[in-house]
Amino acid sequence: MGSRIACHFAGVGVQVLLLDIVPKDVATDAKPAVRNKIVNDALAAAIKSNPSPVYHKDVVKRISTGNFEDNMKEIAGCDWIIEVVVERLDIKQKVFEQVELYRKPGTLITSNTSGIPIHMMAEGRSDDFKKHFCGTHFFNPPRYLRLLEIIPTPYTDPAIMEFLMNYGDLYLGKTTVLCKDTPAFIANRIGVFGMMAIMNVKEKLKLSIDEIDALTGPVIGRPKSATFRTADVVGIDTLVKVAKGVADNCPADEAIEQFAIPGWLEKMVSNNWLGDKTGQGFFKKTKGAGGEKEILTLNLDTMEYAPRVKPKFATLEAAKPVDDLYTRLKMLVAGQDKAGEFYRLFHYGLFSYISHRIPEISDELYRVDDAMMAGFGWEIGAFESWDVLGVAKTTEAMKAAGGKLTLFASPWSPPAWMKDNNNMLQGGKLLPEYYNSWAQYYINFIQAYEARGVPVWGLSVQNEPMAKQTWESCIYTAEEETN
Ligand SMILES: NC(=O)c1ccc[n+]([C@@H]2O[C@H](COP(=O)([O-])OP(=O)(O)OC[C@H]3O[C@@H](n4cnc5c(N)ncnc54)[C@H](O)[C@@H]3O)[C@@H](O)[C@H]2O)c1
Repeated sequence: MGSRIACHFAGVGVQVLLLDIVPKDVATDAKPAVRNKIVNDALAAAIKSNPSPVYHKDVVKRISTGNFEDNMKEIAGCDWIIEVVVERLDIKQKVFEQVELYRKPGTLITSNTSGIPIHMMAEGRSDDFKKHFCGTHFFNPPRYLRLLEIIPTPYTDPAIMEFLMNYGDLYLGKTTVLCKDTPAFIANRIGVFGMMAIMNVKEKLKLSIDEIDALTGPVIGRPKSATFRTADVVGIDTLVKVAKGVADNCPADEAIEQFAIPGWLEKMVSNNWLGDKTGQGFFKKTKGAGGEKEILTLNLDTMEYAPRVKPKFATLEAAKPVDDLYTRLKMLVAGQDKAGEFYRLFHYGLFSYISHRIPEISDELYRVDDAMMAGFGWEIGAFESWDVLGVAKTTEAMKAAGGKLTLFASPWSPPAWMKDNNNMLQGGKLLPEYYNSWAQYYINFIQAYEARGVPVWGLSVQNEPMAKQTWESCIYTAEEETN
């Protein structure tokens, strides 16, 4: 992952120094080619990989390589140090100890961890280090997946956050999403919940892997790799690791039972059926009797691979030719066959889960949608699809189905005439003479929802503390937000 991130930075014109460990048992006076074997091999493998991590092979000239023992002092000449070592807190902390010895004050330091709490990595470091430290979580492959999650600690300087949000967006071509320092941040928390919940619905409705992938792909605005093929690409071990991480570190998660690892998934890990990286997972490529390529699907009841079976659902067939995604979603959820039942269970579970994650993982709903669209290639965010299916209507159905639901609302800007910039966009502040009217509007909103049997559990002003925005926004101080 580190060499691919290096390639992406080189691709946008940045000079990169890429460091890695020295191979075991190599003498201190061995030639650089021997001492730098790990880093050079990793970079060569990245450059050869498909799709390419660089748009032109020449950009690789901007990357120089070295190792942590001989070249760490050279980080004194760097403006930004990105840590991408193995996912272990003790190892990352050791690397940061070394970084602290050589970095210049004012240099940015960020970690690419997928789930280690960012504040724990900053423990024991100097004030200047802490001020310039945060998480920058790239998704693999970093050149192609648009999401960049940015995770501050309580010590991170807000100016650094603002810089990273803008730099990620403008120079790295990313959708930057500001996250809280909670396990698995936003995209993996929701994405892995989604996969685990789908696996549980699969068991409940006795659906096959082929059926689930047909139901959860482009027809609902998700990538062709749908659910199980995506799991094979991500790696079954990674999926299990993130699910266990959430189960262990989020004891108050109301849906924690969804993260329990089914026996067959444990078995896949122990069999080393980890997906693409080991050649087989939920799917396996083989050659048919005539030598032609064939893809087999795992049957989770027998744990044997068998030829794929094309699923047939009346609801799916009816919805597929419809171009408009919103219309398709409504048709699918209203379906009267097993597919319709699947879509209802699947959406109700997802809506319940995201409703409980605000404000735990984000104060703003749009950040959750942005993260899922950019990180998992969804065409439509989860909150957006809830809007499409109708919040009040769906909530009533969810309650009738016995689902747990917490509704958190986040109204956007007050009308222009209530603000000091006379504009619903571009920040601005609510004028004091309208505090009561705007609060009354909130009350009316909550009461109207309650009258329809939808109690609102919590509410936030749609605060945009970072900057003026080109979309609807209003700036509040922390004190005003509390009031
Ligand atoms: N691979 C992904 O898809 C992905 C995606 C997002 C985030 N991440 C995160 O990025 C980080 C790296 O992931 P990866 O998949 O490249 O991991 P990896 O296990 O392949 O190893 C990363 C690097 O750590 C180095 N390393 C091994 N032992 C070390 C030690 N004792 N001290 C210092 N360095 C050591 C390795 O040589 C290697 O270059 C992890 O924190 C991971 O959670 C990975």
